[in-house]
Amino acid sequence: MSTIAIIGGTGPQGKGLGYRFAKGGHAVILGSRSDERAVEAATELADRVTGAGSVNGAENTKAVEVADLVLLAVPHKGHDELVGSLAPQLSGKVVISCVNPLGFDKGGPFGLDLGPTSAAEIAQGLVPDAVVVGAFHHLSAVSLIGEEDLLEHEDVLVCGDDAEGKGQVMELARIITGKDGIDAGALRLARQLEPLTAVLISINKRHKVRSGIAVVGLGR
Ligand SMILES: NC(=O)c1ccc[n+]([C@@H]2O[C@H](COP(=O)([O-])OP(=O)(O)OC[C@H]3O[C@@H](n4cnc5c(N)ncnc54)[C@H](OP(=O)(O)O)[C@@H]3O)[C@@H](O)[C@H]2O)c1
Repeated sequence: MSTIAIIGGTGPQGKGLGYRFAKGGHAVILGSRSDERAVEAATELADRVTGAGSVNGAENTKAVEVADLVLLAVPHKGHDELVGSLAPQLSGKVVISCVNPLGFDKGGPFGLDLGPTSAAEIAQGLVPDAVVVGAFHHLSAVSLIGEEDLLEHEDVLVCGDDAEGKGQVMELARIITGKDGIDAGALRLARQLEPLTAVLISINKRHKVRSGIAVVGLGR
């Protein structure tokens, strides 16, 4: 069992992943800029979690301080300032980023052009002593918070430069999909994984579905 802090844990994605991690037996701390909002979000989830897992809430800094693993689930806007402000607490930890820098206009969703980088690499640059791993970009918050026991039809693509940290996150994905996450390569692949979510959102709108990613050809 790990203690997992979720920065931005009051939003739909943080709550959804927090619910799944707690359901899988982990001690989850939903983080927020406000103690009150964090506790409120945790109370909302706690009733649904049975077994060894737990959900509590705390201000972001306090949540990170006691965590073994940290998930960044905040919007791209404000992400750099937030991660920079938490750098002392994040240092030395495995930090998962599911942040998708997306824009929306009349033409629909699109991946923001960050130049030759990604939100995950920016986080790594801001906290060089952390192990940043990109994952969970393509799981929808609605599916995560839903009643389905396992999202067996989906894959979690995981990217990172540290084999051990990446392995830990690939294993964590098993709680959600029933199978290990897929090692997609180096952290720089987050440049492709993050904006890919714009394509899924576009498919969802056009086809009135909740699409996801499943990889074929791995011989599983
Ligand atoms: N929603 C999805 O289905 C989905 C799917 C895949 C990936 N993602 C990614 O996951 C991340 C979170 O998504 P979301 O939909 O849950 O986002 P959200 O609701 O917009 O934001 C999540 C939380 O982040 C905190 N926050 C907002 N602005 C902030 C700022 N400027 N500085 C610090 N904290 C701030 C807020 O918590 P407090 O006010 O309580 O601090 C908010 O509740 C995004 O990067 C998104 O691209 C989302």
